[in-house]
Amino acid sequence: MQYRHSFHAGNFADVHKHVGLLALLRALQKKEKGFLYLDTHAGSGLYDLRSEDARRGGESAAGIAQVLQAAAQHPPRTPEVAAYLDTVRNLRALTGASTYPGSPLIAASALRPVDRGSCIETVPQESRHLGRVLAAFGSEGKATVRVAAGDGYAQLAAQLPPKERRALVLIDPPYEDTEEFPQLAAMLPDVLRRFDSGVYVIWYPIKKQRDIDLWHARIARAITQPTLAAELWLHPRDTTVGLNGSGLLIVNPPWQMDARFAEWQEELRGLLGGAEGSGSDVKWIVHEQR
Ligand SMILES: C[S@@+](CC[C@H](N)C(=O)[O-])C[C@H]1O[C@@H](n2cnc3c(N)ncnc32)[C@H](O)[C@@H]1O
Repeated sequence: MQYRHSFHAGNFADVHKHVGLLALLRALQKKEKGFLYLDTHAGSGLYDLRSEDARRGGESAAGIAQVLQAAAQHPPRTPEVAAYLDTVRNLRALTGASTYPGSPLIAASALRPVDRGSCIETVPQESRHLGRVLAAFGSEGKATVRVAAGDGYAQLAAQLPPKERRALVLIDPPYEDTEEFPQLAAMLPDVLRRFDSGVYVIWYPIKKQRDIDLWHARIARAITQPTLAAELWLHPRDTTVGLNGSGLLIVNPPWQMDARFAEWQEELRGLLGGAEGSGSDVKWIVHEQR
């Protein structure tokens, strides 16, 4: 069956990914010069958590619903988690109380007029929905955000390097196919040859520890750009519950992201009710050259 993000929208991995995405956008915005935000696997932009798909998956209960409830008792201390929750609340005020925003809408709400967004989604129905969502709710920041139906990987080659010479690229594939991990590792050096100073974020599922170790090692052999792995897991990393944790591979992370991610990830783990066996970690896969 074709992957549908509506089953998973607002789950703990979405929350982890979106706090990280917003933190990276804000870090890039410390400089006035605009940048390209490229979302290669964009999804439909807005999910109704009351829909049949979402209720069948039921995953947002342990994700956004849990975090909002916990944050009502213990307001977040880190600016990253606080900014994310403000964004979700503000977007819900526009889109409805039981919705959850996808990465393009979260990014569109943060982009400035000098920035530019480009979102690629392969399923035509999803990409049409995304276009409507961004037209209706994504114009607050007044940045130009374009949507195209197509292959996000092909667009990496077509859109890089960007005219701004600055970019944040989110690569968030569905991992339906076990080949997605090796394909990403094989593709990354080519993408970096095209544009070596972009900030690239690749989301990945943590299911089996050995697979992740091998993948990180393969990437470390293939590229020279500083690269962080920021991970949050709610279940012991080698159990077979399904999705144990959520990882973000960040190539060329902005300054001090390692320390910042370590702090907010721990706060988020607490808000998610992370019990024994849960954890978070930030490590350099390719070391920063100082
Ligand atoms: C994990 S979801 C994206 C979620 C979204 N980034 C977010 O955070 O809200 C992955 C999406 O990629 C789409 N997709 C799958 N293969 C693709 C490809 N080659 N190019 C572009 N989109 C693709 C799927 O249809 C799905 O909507």
